[in-house]
Amino acid sequence: MAEVIVVTSGKGGTGKTTVSLLLAKAFCRRGKNVLLLELDSGLRGLDLLLKVSDRVVYDLSDVLTGSCKPVKAITVCDVPKGNLHLIAAPQNRHFIPDPGNLKLLIKGLSECYDYLILDTAAGLGKDFDIACSVGTKALIVATADAISVRDAARAAQELRSLSPRLVVNKFSRKNLSAQLPDLDAVIDGVGAQLISVIAEDAAMARQLASGIQPSASSPAVCEIDDLAGRIMGERIKLNTDRLK
Ligand SMILES: Nc1ncnc2c1ncn2[C@@H]1O[C@H](COP(=O)(O)OP(=O)(O)OP(=O)(O)O)[C@@H](O)[C@H]1O
Ligand SMILES: [Mg+2]
Repeated sequence: MAEVIVVTSGKGGTGKTTVSLLLAKAFCRRGKNVLLLELDSGLRGLDLLLKVSDRVVYDLSDVLTGSCKPVKAITVCDVPKGNLHLIAAPQNRHFIPDPGNLKLLIKGLSECYDYLILDTAAGLGKDFDIACSVGTKALIVATADAISVRDAARAAQELRSLSPRLVVNKFSRKNLSAQLPDLDAVIDGVGAQLISVIAEDAAMARQLASGIQPSASSPAVCEIDDLAGRIMGERIKLNTDRLK
């Protein structure tokens, strides 16, 4: 059975989609079969980042409303072992998955993959509740600013039954403030156990945006590789040399 990892944040733009994508690729490099399920209705983006937009015919709403079989909505992505698959988010921004149907779909898909990664929309509304109800693990992606930390704390509270882990993203010491003077203050503010700190990595973000595979030596890619290892149970220490 697959682990179903819900990637969430509360606040928008903290890096949920980026972390979901790079984590999925990191699992694939470790030989795992991974399905990325994008839940951000009306705002799909993973198909573009994975350069498979022209191959996406059906999306999550088609599967959940019974318009097509799940296999029709699965797009095989271009990674060396072909072990990364995507179900794209619905184009319809008003689409809210039916929780029962989503649960059934996830149950079926869980038989076929090692990891299902659910890239959620920002916010803590109904979509958030539905995504959380199907997860077996949760990652809360927060940045080191007061609003993100407060929103992430709310998400952590709601997700406590899944023991969520905190991913601090876009971290840069020069952006710390008197309110959040160091990493410990961020962790205390969110109230979830830390699993990863990803450096602010402008080069990686630029490469992703232009459809280029980010360099394997980029600080964000290396840290997310370690994150994949930690999720798989390896004891990998945080490499603070990657943080500026
Ligand atoms: N570690 C990082 N360093 C620099 N830029 C980053 C990093 N992680 C993500 N970004 C950039 O931040 C922006 C937002 O990232 P992303 O789309 O992954 O956030 P999101 O949480 O999924 O947003 P939304 O809430 O809109 O779904 C993107 O331009 C992305 O390239
Ligand atoms: Mg996103």
